[in-house]
Amino acid sequence: MYDNWEELEKSIINCKKCKLCQNRTNIVFGTGNKEADLMFIGEGPGADEDKQGLPFVGKAGKLMNEAFKGIGINREEVYIANIVKCRPPQNRVPEQDEAEACLNYLRNQVILVKPKIIVLLGSTALKNILGKEYGITSARGKWLEKKGIKYMPTWHPAALLRDENKKIEFWKDLKEVRKELDK
Ligand code: URA
Repeated sequence: MYDNWEELEKSIINCKKCKLCQNRTNIVFGTGNKEADLMFIGEGPGADEDKQGLPFVGKAGKLMNEAFKGIGINREEVYIANIVKCRPPQNRVPEQDEAEACLNYLRNQVILVKPKIIVLLGSTALKNILGKEYGITSARGKWLEKKGIKYMPTWHPAALLRDENKKIEFWKDLKEVRKELDK
């Protein structure tokens, strides 16, 4: 673990800890306010993110931006990262060895950011951060607390693109997050 961003960022530059390094264009490290109270964790980069080296800049990212606006926060105010930092082929779910190889970087980011709240976007984020015993359908919308951080699991924005009902629940969950932030 590194106690500063510079060393952490340097440590990842030539990462070859898993096979996802073979096809990446860019490592998608994470972006935003490094002292944010609120952090979002997604699954892994897609094609647009791989190209630009930034998380949530594609279709799902546009929805995230709308959601940020809806709860009155700027994208620049929060910190955004993913479970894996390199794009899985065909946007498949990251495999266990890939997630495990990458998770220490994310843990280090969480330690440095020290967020009060983490929004877990979808099943991959939920299971890798809080444990395999959790399922997104039953866990979503409910606060979970671990080591002084409040976690709100919700749908992954890509799931909203396929299902209108999930959009309503996603909004509800983000409004809860807004309320908690305002406390
Ligand atoms: N989906 C994710 O989980 N993360 C991104 O950065 C983009 C899409």
